[in-house]
Amino acid sequence: RTRRWQVECRPDIDSFTPGLLALYESLKPSEEHNSKQKQLVDSLTKSVSKEWPNAQLHLYGSCANSFGTSHSDVDVCLEMETDTESTAEVLLKLADVLRADNFNNVEAITSARVPIVRMSDPGSGFSCDICINNLFAVANTKLLKDYAQIDQRLLQLAFLVKHWAKQRSVNETYRGTLSSYAYVLMCINFLQLREPKILPCLQAMEHTYTLNADGTECAYFDKVHELQDFGAENKESLAELLWAFFHYWAFHHDYRRDVISVRIGNKISKQEKNWTTRVGNDRHLMCIEDPFETGHDLGRGVDRQTIRILREEFERAASVLQYDDDPCVTLFERYDC
Ligand code: GTP
Ligand code: MG
Repeated sequence: RTRRWQVECRPDIDSFTPGLLALYESLKPSEEHNSKQKQLVDSLTKSVSKEWPNAQLHLYGSCANSFGTSHSDVDVCLEMETDTESTAEVLLKLADVLRADNFNNVEAITSARVPIVRMSDPGSGFSCDICINNLFAVANTKLLKDYAQIDQRLLQLAFLVKHWAKQRSVNETYRGTLSSYAYVLMCINFLQLREPKILPCLQAMEHTYTLNADGTECAYFDKVHELQDFGAENKESLAELLWAFFHYWAFHHDYRRDVISVRIGNKISKQEKNWTTRVGNDRHLMCIEDPFETGHDLGRGVDRQTIRILREEFERAASVLQYDDDPCVTLFERYDC
């Protein structure tokens, strides 16, 4: 008897690759978008340097990791000496400075795991999150950017997965689904596990880059131009990979046992990580290990109800790609819950 996870994809799957590639191209940010983003960063730099002349501004998240679409927000990290002031105090002061400079909807969110100031730019309408001295975000932004340079199928796959997640309303961490960052890590891990492999495990190779974030070494092989042919032996098309990605998360993944780990380029058991029971708000029902903050589960907000929603969406996506006449449209149909 054939089990559902043993199903092979439809024989004409490759015929959908051109349509998916066209969609990917249309999601990439325009020149206009990039220049508006630069203007925002310039005016922000001006505001900040009045109060903190030595602060350095780093972009992180999708505006710097190459996974940004024209709908992405702008994530900024300020690197500065905080002396005796706490991060919360600095953020409250920053919020005042930004309000005085006429940024819109300025709000200091000091109770979050990573405290931020959130605001929007009146010129471009972009929403912007600003954090202080979060070097982990700087390191993981570079890691994602470096992975993206090894094989172009990663960017293509991740753009489509992020777009699908936004359209289907499963990219909302405040409601118990997953962040964009989590989806990109899922794509990287998936490509590390293809046979033949499409991506290597950079953290398991010689360390040519190291950044110390709060006493934790974030280290990996970053000479990615030497890895340009890494995935060449694998000839899978974008459509095939997209189907296999959803099929994996719908039918293959062992949610009870496994944690996916980009850090080791494989899966590890929940047991090994001590992620078998709920601790505080971390439920560990769907486990995605952060590559550098290894105690951090990016699926921690997924609960009994949202894991069901996520799995139903993965199944829907896999079967649309398997059976639908026009999967490039049906897959991304909007669903507002
Ligand atoms: P979009 O804005 O949706 O295009 O994607 P993004 O890659 O910018 O993701 P998001 O705005 O969700 O997160 C911004 C960055 O915060 C990530 O790229 C990571 O560098 C960093 N980050 C670190 N830990 C977390 C976490 O637990 N959740 C989220 N969302 N981001 C984290
Ligand atoms: Mg972002």
